[in-house]
This record gives sequence, C-alpha cells and structure tokens, in this order.
Amino acid sequence: MSTTIITMILILITTVTNSQASTLKYPCEPPHHNMYPFCNTTLPIQTRAQSLISHLTLSEKITCLADNNKGIPRLGIPPYQWWSEALHGITANRPGVNFTNGPINAATMFPQVIVTTSSFNRTLWYSIASAIAIEARAMYNVGQAGLTFWAPTINVFRDPRWGRGQETPGEDPRVAGAYAVEFVTAFQGGEVRGDGMRSVRKSRVLSEGGEDELMVSACCKHFSAYDLDSWGNYTRYNFSAIVTEQDMQDTYQLPFRSCIQEAKASCLMCSYNAVNGIPACADKDLLQKARTEWDFKGYITSDCDAVATIYEHHNYTKTPEDAVAIALKAGTDLNCGTYMMRFTQSAIDQRKVVEEDLDKALVNLFMVQLRLGLFNGDPIKGKYGKLGPSDVCSSDHKNLALEAARQGIVLLKNDNKFLPFHKNVVSSLAVIGPMANATSDLGGGYSGIPCSPTSIVEGLKKYVKKTTYTYGCLDVACSSNAGFFEAISISKEADFVIVVAGLDLTQENEEHDRLSLLLPGYQKDLITSIAATSRKPIVLVLTGGGPIDVSFAQGDPRIASIIWVGYPGEAGGTALAEVIFGYHNPGGKLPVTWYPESFTSVPMTNMNMRSDLSNGYPGRTYRFYTGNIVYGFGHGLSYTNYTYNVLSAPNELNVFGSKKTKSYNILQQTEGYSNYLYVDELEEHCDSLRFQVDIRVTNHGPFDGSTVVMLFSRVPGFSKGAPLKQLVEFERVHTVVNSDTKIGIIVDPCEHLSIVNEFGKRILPIGDHTLLLDDAEHIVSIVM
Ligand SMILES: *[C@@H]1O[C@H](CO)[C@@H](O)[C@H](O)[C@H]1NC(C)=O
Ligand SMILES: *[C@@H]1O[C@H](CO)[C@@H](O)[C@H](O)[C@H]1NC(C)=O
Ligand SMILES: *[C@@H]1O[C@H](CO)[C@@H](O)[C@H](O)[C@H]1NC(C)=O
Ligand SMILES: *[C@@H]1O[C@H](CO)[C@@H](O)[C@H](O)[C@H]1NC(C)=O
Ligand SMILES: *[C@@H]1O[C@H](CO)[C@@H](O)[C@H](O)[C@H]1NC(C)=O
Ligand SMILES: *[C@@H]1O[C@H](CO)[C@@H](O)[C@H](O)[C@H]1NC(C)=O
Ligand SMILES: *[C@@H]1O[C@H](CO)[C@@H](O)[C@H](O)[C@H]1NC(C)=O
Ligand SMILES: *[C@@H]1O[C@H](CO)[C@@H](O)[C@H](O)[C@H]1NC(C)=O
Repeated sequence: MSTTIITMILILITTVTNSQASTLKYPCEPPHHNMYPFCNTTLPIQTRAQSLISHLTLSEKITCLADNNKGIPRLGIPPYQWWSEALHGITANRPGVNFTNGPINAATMFPQVIVTTSSFNRTLWYSIASAIAIEARAMYNVGQAGLTFWAPTINVFRDPRWGRGQETPGEDPRVAGAYAVEFVTAFQGGEVRGDGMRSVRKSRVLSEGGEDELMVSACCKHFSAYDLDSWGNYTRYNFSAIVTEQDMQDTYQLPFRSCIQEAKASCLMCSYNAVNGIPACADKDLLQKARTEWDFKGYITSDCDAVATIYEHHNYTKTPEDAVAIALKAGTDLNCGTYMMRFTQSAIDQRKVVEEDLDKALVNLFMVQLRLGLFNGDPIKGKYGKLGPSDVCSSDHKNLALEAARQGIVLLKNDNKFLPFHKNVVSSLAVIGPMANATSDLGGGYSGIPCSPTSIVEGLKKYVKKTTYTYGCLDVACSSNAGFFEAISISKEADFVIVVAGLDLTQENEEHDRLSLLLPGYQKDLITSIAATSRKPIVLVLTGGGPIDVSFAQGDPRIASIIWVGYPGEAGGTALAEVIFGYHNPGGKLPVTWYPESFTSVPMTNMNMRSDLSNGYPGRTYRFYTGNIVYGFGHGLSYTNYTYNVLSAPNELNVFGSKKTKSYNILQQTEGYSNYLYVDELEEHCDSLRFQVDIRVTNHGPFDGSTVVMLFSRVPGFSKGAPLKQLVEFERVHTVVNSDTKIGIIVDPCEHLSIVNEFGKRILPIGDHTLLLDDAEHIVSIVM
C-alpha cells in the first residue's frame, strides 16, 4: 500500500466521525440489541446477512464497499475498518490497528515468515498463528484492532530480487501451501489441525451456508501470479504476468488452493497485477474459480486501490465506472480504498452496475463479519471476551518468538567445526555491522511494535562480557568505508570476530525489488578487510529475506562460518547467541534457492518456471533452474552429523490392482517413451495407491538436535516441463546423540508423483519414479 493511499484513508477516518456512531462501539448492543433479525444470534448467518442488506438504502450499500466503512448509525452499526495486518505478529500503523489509543502498546514480533518457514516445522507455524490470533482478539476487545487481517502472503518466492519474498513461505508451492494451511487454520480458530499437503483431496467440509465461527479472519494474498514490485518498465500496478497454464496449475495457484480448499480461509485478496492481460481484480474466471472449484466461502478484497489501477495503470477500461463494474461483476466484494465508494453511484446511473451486484458483494462481507461475531453485541460477552492486555506479550508468546528464531536460523557454512564457540574459551568478542545493533528492524516488512526486542550485540554480550561493537558501515547501504578503520582496529584486538552483514528494508521491501544479489555498497570490502586482519577466521552473520550472492565468502578460509538469520524477530539476538555458543543446535534449512549474481541477467518479468535452453533462460527454483547456485533449496548445516536411510518403501505399484473397471486415456508422448494417466480419471484409485516410506534419521553426534527430512521425487523418462525433482513431504525431527528416530511419510502418488502437463492437466507418468532422500535414491515402478 502506498503512502498516498494511507494518507487518503486517514483523512477519511477523521472526516466520517458521527456523533451517534461514536457512542456505539459494537453493533447489536442495547438499545439495538435483538431489535433487528440480523442481531438475532439464533438465526442462520445467511438469513441474518440478507436481513441486514434488506434494511439498507442504495447509498448505504455503496459505503459498505470501502475498507473504511463509516457504519450505519440509524441501525446502530458503528464504523468498521477492514484493513488490519498480522503477517508475523500484529502490524503497526495499518488503519485497523493502533498501538497508541489503548492499553496495549506492543505485541509479540515473531520472525519474518521466510525465517519461520526455514524451520520446516508445521507445529511451530500453527502455534505462531494461534498466538497472533489471541493477541488480535485481545487488541480487538480493547478497541485497538479489527478482526479481519490481511495475512498470510503466500505467493511463491519466484525471483530472488523480489522485495517481498521475505514475507513468503519460500519458493516451493507445496511448502507455501502447507504453511497457509497451518497459519489459516490456527488463525481462524480451527481446532482441528490440518495435516498439511497430505490431505488436499480430503478436506473438512464447511457446513452449509458457511456458518463456521471465526476467531479472526485470515486472507490468502495476493491472488495471483504476483511477485514483481518494480523492475524495468513495470511496477506491480501495470505489470501483466504472462503465465503458461502449466505454471499456473503447478506453481502459482497451488498455495491458494490449499489456503482456500483445505484451510477454509475466509478472505482472498486479488492482486494489482494483471494475469495474461486481465487485471486480477477484474478477472472473473480467476476469482469465480476459487468459489466453484475450491469451495471458497468468504469475501474477496482488492489490494489497496487495485480497483483504481484497473483503469489508471492497466488502462483496461475506458472509465472509472467500467473499472468498478468489471471488478464487482468479476467477484471483488470489497475495495481497499475509496474508488468503489466514489464511482459506484455513477456506474449505476450509467447502467453498468445494478443493485444486485452490490447485494452479492455485501452478503459475502456481512457473512464474514457475522461469523466473527461482530454483530453479537459487546465482545466481552462472547467466547473470546476474556482476552485482554495480559494475553499480549505474554511470556508464552515471547518464548515462542524465541523458539521460532532458534528453529529458523540456518547455518550455511562451518569449516572444521569452527562453531559453536565455547563460552569459557572466548575471552573477548568484536561485533561489527549496522544491523548488529538493530532491535525493531529485526522483524522486516509488516512489523509491529515488539514486546522486548534484543539486538544481536545485546544477545552476545550475555555470553562474553568483553564484547566490543562498532557499526563499520553507517547503514546497510554502506556507501562509505569511513567506519572501516575503527572496525578493523577493534577486530584486531578481539579474540573472535562476528560481522553482521546483509540486507534490511532499505534494500528490499514492498515497492522495492533489488537489482543486484550482491551485498550492498562496501559491505563485502568490510568483511574481507576484517577477515584479512583479525587474529582468527571470522563468523559472518547475514540478515535479510532475499538470497545474497556470498560466493566470495564460501571459499574464503578466513570466513570460517556463515549463519543466515534473515529477519529473526524480537528474540533474534538471543537466538543467534544461543546458536553461536552451542546452546541451540541449528536445524533450519533454506526455503529458497540462493542464486549467483549472474541470475540478474534474467528479466524479472519472465514468469516462466521452466527453463528454455534454446534462448539461455535458466528456469526458476530448485524444481527447474539449471544454472549454478550459491546455496540450494534445503541447504542448512548442523553441529551434529546425521544420516538418513529409507528403511522400507514399495518397489512396484499396480495402478488398477486386478480390477480395471473402465477404459483410461493412455497417451503416448511424442518426445519420449513415457505413458501416463490423467489424475482426474484416477480419483477412485488414488487412496489404494497411497504408500508409506519408512525413514530412519541417525544422529552420530556430538550434539542432540532437530533436522528436517525432505523426501523428493522425480518422474520417469522425459516429460516436457517435468521438474528436475519435486518435494513430496518434509518433516522436522528431533534426535539425540548416538540414537535414531524413525518416521513414516505417506506418499500419495496421485498428488506427489504426478506432474502437470503443458495443458495444465495433472498426469501420473507410468514407469520408474525415483524417491530421493539426501544422497539416497529408491525406485518405485508404477505399472498397469
Ligand atoms: C430470534 O429468532 C428466533 C427464530 O426465528 C425467534 O423465535 C425469536 O423470537 C427471535 N428473537 C427475537 C428477540 O426477535
Ligand atoms: C491512534 O489513535 C490515536 C488516539 O486516538 C490517534 O491520535 C492516532 O493518530 C492513531 N494512530 C493511527 C496510526 O491511526
Ligand atoms: C523499457 O522500454 C524501452 C522503450 O520501449 C525499451 O527500450 C527498454 O528495453 C525497456 N526496458 C526493459 C528493461 O525492458
Ligand atoms: C508502469 O508504471 C511506471 C510507474 O508509473 C511507469 O514508469 C511505466 O512507464 C509504466 N509502464 C507501462 C508499460 O505503462
Ligand atoms: C494509460 O492511461 C493513462 C491515463 O489514465 C495515461 O497517462 C497512460 O499513458 C496510459 N498508458 C498506456 C500504456 O496506454
Ligand atoms: C546502538 O543502538 C543504541 C540504541 O538505538 C544507540 O543508543 C547506540 O548509540 C548504538 N551504538 C552504536 C555504536 O551505534
Ligand atoms: C557421519 O557419520 C557417518 C556414520 O558414522 C560417517 O560415515 C560419516 O563420515 C560422517 N560424516 C561426517 C561429515 O562426519
Ligand atoms: C516444532 O516446534 C514445536 C513448537 O515450537 C516444538 O515444540 C517442537 O520441538 C519442534 N519440533 C522439532 C522436531 O524441532
């Protein structure tokens, strides 16, 4: 959201105060309680929503299409601001959230999503979202937040330069989908834990009319194929993503399908960009598909002013009224901003919109508000009424923020077991780098006001009293080497040296993609000059969400260890120190490929996932990228030595068993030998094809720890556009020294061994599939 939009909305907040509304805090409080059927909690939600709509005049309906809804005083309905944010904790300064107008002035700031993702721990993802939901309800109860939050961001982290990649669960669409399932289920108050991507086809059925209660509302964003903010001649406001059907089906849509079909998200946000020429908020096929194919029951909001951009940036319509009409008819129910409020009346006058178009949107909006209990009177009397200030920044939540940072930190390099340090052996420590002294900046984009943040320097000081600090570079941009002398001199005097380099929001952010993958400014020079003059090799700590080309450091023996902390949140300084001193054994894994700088010759506007070697296009992500890497997806070291073994898995699966009931469409590919079956037609056989892979993880010492098991698959032979490999399943497991842990992973061939063909159809190739576990391979033949 741009600052001009925020300013516009703030102006609106101050101008729409109404004496009657301001005395009312919640709808359906006395004297309005139960006067209207929409306040009658014994009636079905849909009936209540329709009853409310039946009371509204046309001009009142129009005001309901804006995020900053001014309320309907004559019906006792106070203003409501739809726009609150909670990506990794309650976000400060979004119009629905205010940290200064009540008793709550801070909220737990968990690590940025890319860091939390690196834990590959579903339980952790679920726990964090539960904690944020509690803090959200508590803030709502004291009038400091709304109940509709626009999180999670689940776009695939497709290009390493993207300024918002930090907000996402990484580059693998299945991981992003699994993250969405945990986050949304927990955030909305779901008591049944989703089991991630294992059960997409067996989702819980929402009761008729979408009556399910919501603790708070989550929003899957940004739909769809959005992952460019500013590159070349395009911004997110005027870019049209050209996406093949194959990429759409097996990459861009996958996280959204899980978020809606499996997690039952109550909101979907359409993005600024166009997809294949049609602005997302004007794309009826795209938006309706979510309702018809994924059973979406909720409201669709535009990204902020994304209705205006249909006309103003995409030039997709001739007038603002046409933009409003096409968005409403496509299925956009709410406009973040004021555009619909301003142009709907004239669109109706011009017969481009009819009142029924508004009613359709309003029923979706009111039903979500009703499911949230917004029309049940004073929330203190409701199920979550007891939550208040003491539930925010509680010690449980602060510990969870610490645990998340521990689990997310990734050890990238560790020559000769340089780390961990032994506290008693380190007599003095020098810490260098502007981010080492940061506190609130450790959250990255969409941060809140942290409860009790610890900087990296503070964290380390707890272990080594004699810790000196200097910034080295004045800021992360590091456009001068003026601080180097001081940095080198304190480094020379210290026993051990830790340099904190990398990125912050001045380098990567909303509306700001990077142009280079290298460290900003003189940062590299700072690191190498310190490494060259320090007594011992140094430890390099990297901040930031996007991949950084640190190939210079990979082979440099003077840089013994590299740790990626990303944006570790309010407890990041403490967690990092625990890792460095061996009180926590790192187990995080990169959820995104770290590409070399040469990748920047690839146009960011090229949305193709698949490589095209005929024109030198290298493809994207570990699934398709064919070039050199700095660090791969799933890379992450530990202080202990693990080995992974497949204990048992079938060698052969017969698709039809003995009973082949109808004829199947078996096609011969022209390029290769592989036959395949359409997964759609296999539905009834899928369950019987499921099998378990038993895996043993052995910890050979010398530390207890958690590691992430990742099982990949590769299809047989040659199929056009087949991934090099794809993730079947992941699981974080804990193992103590000199013992092993066994896990069973369920493989659903229809889902995990299938691929999407050029026409967007999911197919299961016949033949030898390969399961990959670390260095081991296991063949499963699928026969008919
Ligand atoms: C609420 O609705 C129920 C079911 O229709 C009805 O029996 C009851 O009288 C209503 N309550 C009020 C206060 O109108
Ligand atoms: C928060 O509320 C206070 C007091 O009502 C007000 O002065 C301030 O402008 C609000 N801040 C935001 C960011 O809305
Ligand atoms: C931007 O547009 C100009 C003019 O059409 C063109 O010459 C230039 O190559 C474009 N830049 C990129 C990065 O595509
Ligand atoms: C997209 O918007 C940017 C910023 O307003 C502008 O510089 C650029 O020319 C626009 N590109 C196109 C293709 O309209
Ligand atoms: C789109 O329309 C705007 C006026 O709203 C105009 O300034 C701009 O040049 C147009 N862009 C294109 C690419 O036609
Ligand atoms: C570290 O941060 C604190 C608090 O922001 C500030 O007072 C101090 O000057 C900073 N130290 C250095 C060396 O920059
Ligand atoms: C890890 O342990 C296995 C089994 O003892 C051994 O073969 C392997 O060399 C060890 N690897 C490392 C890096 O120590
Ligand atoms: C996963 O996260 C949960 C919640 O923090 C934690 O209790 C559990 O130990 C973690 N699992 C592993 C294997 O690290």
